[in-house]
Amino acid sequence: MSIIPVPRVAIIVVAAGSGTRLGAGAPKAFVGLAGRTILSHALERVFQTKEPCQVIVVAPAGLEGEAEADIASVAGDRRELARVVTGGATRQESVSRGLGALWGDVDTVLVHDAARALVPAAMIDRVIDAVRATGHAIIPVMPVVDTIKRVDGTVITAAVDRSELAAAQTPQGFRRDVLLTAYQAVGDDFTDDAALMQAAGHTVLTVEGDAMGFKITTPADLERAKAALAPVTPRIGVGTDVHAFGGDGTLWLAGLEWPGEQALSGHSDGDAASHAIVDALLSAAGLGDIGTHFGTARPEFAGAHADVFLAETRRLVEQAGYRIGNVSVQIQAARPKFSPRREEAQRVLSQILGAPVSVAATTTDGLGFVGEGAGVQVFAIAALLPR
Ligand code: CTP
Ligand code: MG
Repeated sequence: MSIIPVPRVAIIVVAAGSGTRLGAGAPKAFVGLAGRTILSHALERVFQTKEPCQVIVVAPAGLEGEAEADIASVAGDRRELARVVTGGATRQESVSRGLGALWGDVDTVLVHDAARALVPAAMIDRVIDAVRATGHAIIPVMPVVDTIKRVDGTVITAAVDRSELAAAQTPQGFRRDVLLTAYQAVGDDFTDDAALMQAAGHTVLTVEGDAMGFKITTPADLERAKAALAPVTPRIGVGTDVHAFGGDGTLWLAGLEWPGEQALSGHSDGDAASHAIVDALLSAAGLGDIGTHFGTARPEFAGAHADVFLAETRRLVEQAGYRIGNVSVQIQAARPKFSPRREEAQRVLSQILGAPVSVAATTTDGLGFVGEGAGVQVFAIAALLPR
């Protein structure tokens, strides 16, 4: 077992709200998201910070046990660094209770909303680093993209210059002593800790937030979180091609020219590997096959090499809303001896397609038309992902 150093940073995860606006029939942090609670998603990321931190989960009264279970499910070897305390009637009160559970060696405190369940660990690290580097209060922010108006009821009273605005996220980070003093000094209820710190007269600086730092407040936000977590199903396609030896000039295979080797015959350069890849990609995208796009009716492709076919195929699949995940190719050929140039072929094809292409080659033990040296046969499989 690894020995975990005594934490200098604590993260208070406030999860004691009721989730009135979400209206999901349970306190918000315990509402389901992709088969787990919202809280467990937030904690999973909190436990992935570069340095192990003390983690204080502030839970609604009566749900402390559930919070413990969520910790146990995602903390891994940081389990001993986490505690649950019971929350209060307002967010500020809940944070205050969390502050009461800080360990002695902690000098930096982050306060994080469980409702921002998808905040990546890298953003938490960014806040910790900025508190250390500046000594000031730090909040992650996102630029405001909407045009903002000041309103009085249904009447617009003024335009607001959005370049002066930023949307605040959590975790927000502070020096422990400064935050504790501010919490003792203020009376009003603030919606976040940065507002409280500013009211107490402290400088608050920003770091870059993250698009995944949005707060789950309404049912639409929960849908957005579900969509962000949904597994992506790749679209798979298969392609094969066969060409006979006996063409003019030198051999072209897998995007490479092979001086001294007998050429393959075909409408283009006879490169069965690139043609199999084209079919696999088009099939994965549901765009027909090589004949649909590069048939003999297109004389401009006569004699063309892999770079032309593959670049055009890549353009077609990207235009259809996909990006190439990877391609796997297997060449069956008695000649040429492929292995000395296998990596070169992978490099060339990967470069054209902008995705990893792996190429394998085999003989057929003298069997069949391949074994007789009459031609080559190629199989390719491609995976496409949404762009
Ligand atoms: N929070 C808390 N204790 C409270 C109120 C809020 O710990 N008494 C926490 C929430 O659990 C949430 C964060 O503060 O993680 C931000 O609050 P908000 O999004 O407003 O959550 P809720 O108060 O639960 O939601 P609502 O306002 O819709 O009831
Ligand atoms: Mg609230």
